[in-house]
Amino acid sequence: MKIEGSVALVTGANRGIGVAFCRALLARGAAKVYAGVRRPEDFAEPGLEPLRLDVTDPEQIAAAARTASDATIVINNAGIQAGPSLLEGSLDGARQELEVNYLGTWAVSRAFAPVLAANGGGALVNMLSVASWRSTKRFPSYAASKAAQWSVTNALRVALREQGTLVVGVHVGWVDTGATAGVDEPKTDAAEVAAQTMDAIARDEPEVLVDETARRVRAALSGPLDLIYPTG
Ligand SMILES: NC(=O)c1ccc[n+]([C@@H]2O[C@H](COP(=O)([O-])OP(=O)(O)OC[C@H]3O[C@@H](n4cnc5c(N)ncnc54)[C@H](OP(=O)(O)O)[C@@H]3O)[C@@H](O)[C@H]2O)c1
Repeated sequence: MKIEGSVALVTGANRGIGVAFCRALLARGAAKVYAGVRRPEDFAEPGLEPLRLDVTDPEQIAAAARTASDATIVINNAGIQAGPSLLEGSLDGARQELEVNYLGTWAVSRAFAPVLAANGGGALVNMLSVASWRSTKRFPSYAASKAAQWSVTNALRVALREQGTLVVGVHVGWVDTGATAGVDEPKTDAAEVAAQTMDAIARDEPEVLVDETARRVRAALSGPLDLIYPTG
């Protein structure tokens, strides 16, 4: 679909990959970009329309769908990594990850599906991860939440086909944001994630494999398990 002239909404828009999505949308000629943020009073990025949106709050989601009733692109970017390691720690953070990453994405998507339909179909983009396909002992619940988010993305892709909505899943390994400040691994720039996602929207492509990690793990899904979880 054409990004020029579109009206977009991005969740978790105040920092990290979210703000990169907003900037990329404006750079590609979006007419309006709603920045879904939890605290609009603290948000001052120029050129955007701040919108109060906690993706775990049903009333805020319903209000956002009324305010952004002209949206033609919705990007579910908001996400957290808050869970315990595999064998110890409270499971509260794991539940919170499911609330935000999985159920938040689902709730925003179902609220905006009729909006996108009314505006000609448009595009729904879900910010997933290589963790949708590969778990780790350090972040097992984050990976589970991303696997669930990927699953609902696929259901949405099928369900919204009839109304002409392009559903895009974005997968990547480490990205350089505040969330990964403590990670000492090669990281992709958030602007690169946003640029490749814009290209996918413009070309009507349903999946973005941003980096080599995402491409390798995606390809390995059809091979033996030790391609994803090496035993050596
Ligand atoms: N960084 C990576 O390596 C990486 C890799 C693959 C996928 N991802 C995914 O990319 C997305 C963005 O990640 P990031 O690295 O940019 O994270 P980040 O810098 O930690 O930013 C997270 C964003 O989500 C928002 N958020 C958290 N809980 C929310 C809620 N309940 N309602 C609405 N917004 C909420 C945060 O808002 P506040 O400022 O109010 O907390 C913030 O804007 C996430 O879905 C993440 O899982 C990240």
